Amino acid sequence: MIQYGRQQIAPEDIEAVRAVLASDFLTQGPAVPAFEQAVARYVGAPHAVAVNSATSALHVACIALDVGPGDVVWTSPNSFLASANCARYCGADVDFVDIDPVDLNMSVPALREKLARAKAGGRLPKVLIPVDFAGRSAQLAPMRELADAYGFAIVEDASHAIGATYHGAHVGGHGLADVTVFSFHPVKIITTAEGGLALTHRPELARRMELARSHGMTRDTAEMSGTPDGPWYYEQHSLGWNYRLTDLQAALGTSQLLRIEEFLARRHAVRARYDTAFAGLPLVLPPPDAEGRSALHLYPVQLAPQVTRDRRAVFEGLRARGIGVNVHYIPIHTQPYYQALGFRRGDFPAAEAYYARAITLPLHAGMSDADVEAVIAAVRAELA
Ligand SMILES: Cc1ncc(COP(=O)(O)O)c(C=O)c1O
Repeated sequence: MIQYGRQQIAPEDIEAVRAVLASDFLTQGPAVPAFEQAVARYVGAPHAVAVNSATSALHVACIALDVGPGDVVWTSPNSFLASANCARYCGADVDFVDIDPVDLNMSVPALREKLARAKAGGRLPKVLIPVDFAGRSAQLAPMRELADAYGFAIVEDASHAIGATYHGAHVGGHGLADVTVFSFHPVKIITTAEGGLALTHRPELARRMELARSHGMTRDTAEMSGTPDGPWYYEQHSLGWNYRLTDLQAALGTSQLLRIEEFLARRHAVRARYDTAFAGLPLVLPPPDAEGRSALHLYPVQLAPQVTRDRRAVFEGLRARGIGVNVHYIPIHTQPYYQALGFRRGDFPAAEAYYARAITLPLHAGMSDADVEAVIAAVRAELA
């Protein structure tokens, strides 16, 4: 089966992890700050907080921004559950802004219109979580203008998008979001097995996220309210979790980051071949890059309206041919959990219409030319 995504592990990655295993620290050692600094330097952000998943990174971002009961957080329905669940962890309500049918990210006109209505109704969002779907940056520039005008914060869910750029700067480096989150799950651009990271240009948010990552405890005497009764002394000022990344994972991440441009170049080469090969087929292809480079985490296609076979039949046909297709995403508001909170099918029609015809084809840096041609041949055979 040619997987839709998978990790690329080289001998130097294995050596980096082995070196940590032979060292004094498996966790809470020097590899985590080294990884944070490496990612921060790569994207051009001043502060990075590594955690054990992007889900945790979204949670600590919401905590740092004081999301709580009575607040509402808006995100895209075309995303993984975690983009919305992070607000629920904090006791806040969730709402969604429908997507643009072409770029599949949160629609700026829909956001603008919903904000005007929310202002009139007296319930503006505290935080907006745009998602860089498939590795393509959401439209952060107009979103920042709206955030400043209406007074909400932006947590960019860039789980798909380390290495992407927007208006000439790296996602996470331009500072248009208050916090930017990456995921390092094995299907993503680089991996730490499980792992995530939150970037920010605001030092107070970085500190609050560090505290939330590790029990809310501090060993910094400048932050203490009491007098240390010995060098072992620590204090807890807020409620935190254990969301720490291990040194083993961080060393893997630092080693992977050295090859990120190679990984991205291969993803773009595969995309270029697919775009050419599929041009005459009844498929809606992912939109070409605009306003920056996509990290191309996914290659989601949609069956064109003239395809009469249903999506499931095409999906199963491709699987039977050894192509590890997937579907991204079931609109979050259609999940039973969110339906029980009052959302209904039909609430976000663009996300639902996209989902009904979507299939994600394999795209990852480890695909050989033969893998790519096998995918193309299978897609042609299914749609012929
Ligand atoms: C858009 C998005 N947000 C958040 C997550 C959660 O990432 P993690 O698995 O690192 O917790 C994912 C994971 O697939 C994702 O795709």
